[in-house]
Amino acid sequence: MAYWAGGGAGGWSQGNSPNQRRGRGSQVDMINRRGIDGWDYDELGKVYDLGLIKRLIPFITPHKWRALGAIIAMIIFSAASYAPPFIMALAVERIGGAIIEGTPESLDRAVADTRFFGILVVALAVVMFFAAMAQRLLTGYIGHHMLRDLRSDMFAHLNKLSLSFYDREEVGRLMSRVTSDVVTLQELMTSGFLNVLADIIGLMIIVVLVAALDPVLAALALSVVPVLLFFMIFWQKFAARAFIRVRQAIAIVNANINENVSGVRVVQAMVREPKNFNDFEKLNNQNKEMNLKAAELQASVMPVVEILSATATCFILFVIGYRAFDGALSAPEAAGLALGFTLYIQRFFNPVRDIVLQYTMLQRAMAGAHRIFEVLDTEPEIIDPPNAVALSDIEGRVDFCDVNFSYIKGIPVLEKFDLHVSAGETIALVGHTGAGKTSVTALVNRSYDIQEGEILIDGHDLRSIQRASLTSRMSVVLQEPYLFSGSIRDNIRYGRLDATDEDVEIAAKAVGADDFISQLPSGYETLLHERGRNVSVGQRQLIAFARALVADPRILILDEATANVDTQTEKIIQRALETMLQGRTSFVIAHRLSTIRNADRIVMMQSGKIVEIGDHDALMQHDGAYADLYRMTFANAN
Ligand SMILES: Nc1ncnc2c1ncn2[C@@H]1O[C@H](COP(=O)(O)OP(=O)(O)OP(=O)(O)O)[C@@H](O)[C@H]1O
Ligand SMILES: [Mg+2]
Repeated sequence: MAYWAGGGAGGWSQGNSPNQRRGRGSQVDMINRRGIDGWDYDELGKVYDLGLIKRLIPFITPHKWRALGAIIAMIIFSAASYAPPFIMALAVERIGGAIIEGTPESLDRAVADTRFFGILVVALAVVMFFAAMAQRLLTGYIGHHMLRDLRSDMFAHLNKLSLSFYDREEVGRLMSRVTSDVVTLQELMTSGFLNVLADIIGLMIIVVLVAALDPVLAALALSVVPVLLFFMIFWQKFAARAFIRVRQAIAIVNANINENVSGVRVVQAMVREPKNFNDFEKLNNQNKEMNLKAAELQASVMPVVEILSATATCFILFVIGYRAFDGALSAPEAAGLALGFTLYIQRFFNPVRDIVLQYTMLQRAMAGAHRIFEVLDTEPEIIDPPNAVALSDIEGRVDFCDVNFSYIKGIPVLEKFDLHVSAGETIALVGHTGAGKTSVTALVNRSYDIQEGEILIDGHDLRSIQRASLTSRMSVVLQEPYLFSGSIRDNIRYGRLDATDEDVEIAAKAVGADDFISQLPSGYETLLHERGRNVSVGQRQLIAFARALVADPRILILDEATANVDTQTEKIIQRALETMLQGRTSFVIAHRLSTIRNADRIVMMQSGKIVEIGDHDALMQHDGAYADLYRMTFANAN
């Protein structure tokens, strides 16, 4: 059943409930904080959210003819699959009657009838075969196309969203939207809706056919349906929760395994194995308990259905027997009716049960759809205005004019930040942790918008320039360079796809990365693992430098890594930096004395403000905050 399959990073609540923002932290933390009973039921959306259903229509319209075909195939299949008991009842009545009559003509008729009904049943089976195949093929086609479209939409949209969005959202939740929510929605749009429709149509077909067999008996048999419905609705209330718990419990187990495997180096270094194993055991047991509870509930359905159908069958047989005894029914008639009704009673519990079960599926899919649209509806905060200018090239002048900036309203990060940088100048940003150095650099390429003041590039307001034309002339080297899986060459070419092999090698040579790359057995074609785990930290840094340089940027932003590298690599990096900074406007968040000393100006920051500015000697002479920082950090360095 669908509910059991819900492993993976299952969906956590995204609703507007008071628990919505529980702050960051792993899912394991969440469960620890909320305890076993603190389950989150927001996953159950509304089944009848019309607004959501309307929004789903565009995904199905390109396939409307196939969808119609699938519905027709489904109706044909239902009709063909519910017809046999009716045919059997007729066959028994007619053939039985003819045999009892015993005349040569009637026996001939019986033979002909047997042949006819036999062929009819086989023909129906053939029809069912083709209808089922058509339905599967059509829904499969629609489903996979929808899945592809939804995923592509999500992927494109996620790449467009501003960094502020990623500051708010957790990666795990986003991943579950792109992976499992999308699948749930696809299931809903294909098998989900169609199954419910098939069940409703199936029920109607059965009602018509049993009424055609005998209206009074039909009414009697169907009188059990309300009881079953009542029971199923009651059962479903418990079951829905149990199934959600199962899904969440396995999501928590998976999250825990994931965290442990990703952090295995820390786990082993801190000898956390026993403690982590205990924690895991608890979660694992909890998952087992949830599954057992759900299994108990699951197990209680069938017996009730069996009892009800047995009761209905018993009533019907009793009434048929009574009528036959009375002479109101002939023996073949009675046998035919008994056969037809017994078969139908067994069948009509299936659609009733299915409809109730599908209800939870619908709820879950609606909740998933809600979460997906929440992402798709988030507008990128940073967009080009309609009349934005495309800069064909830039000189590299950067002016911060009294900039006020905060990530979160009311918590200022930069205040009255005023700095004017001429083209080609190297600015070293220094200051204690949290002073706002990275924030300054994040504003230069408009990763965030400022609240007050102006940032000008070559005299143009940053917000009036087409962002792509700006970023193509800028390179950023992050503190922890992010390398992608793929060859070293592809990683260096990452920001400029038209760079030739020669360009790549020139850039690598310029930053001194060529030496180590050419020593690797596959050279530039060496495949990097995820995040470049198979090369050293210093080497990763050099590859990132080459990547920045190959784009030949006018403005370079460099969050210098603090990681300790050996003296040899340190020297290479120092030389690389000199090459890179040459002739470019550069913002360097510097931790190396050599970089700071070589900078044209040093900007000393404290709590989002510039407190001192000047070159190394001037600032040392001033004997203020920079001199203090210098003595604290570098006193023993040289
Ligand atoms: N994405 C963010 N969302 C909210 N606040 C942030 C965000 N990034 C930084 N801050 C806050 O802004 C302030 C400045 O941070 P910033 O990263 O610019 O400091 P920094 O000088 O680069 O520090 P470090 O030397 O440790 O890298 C800090 O108080 C920090 O908590
Ligand atoms: Mg920083």
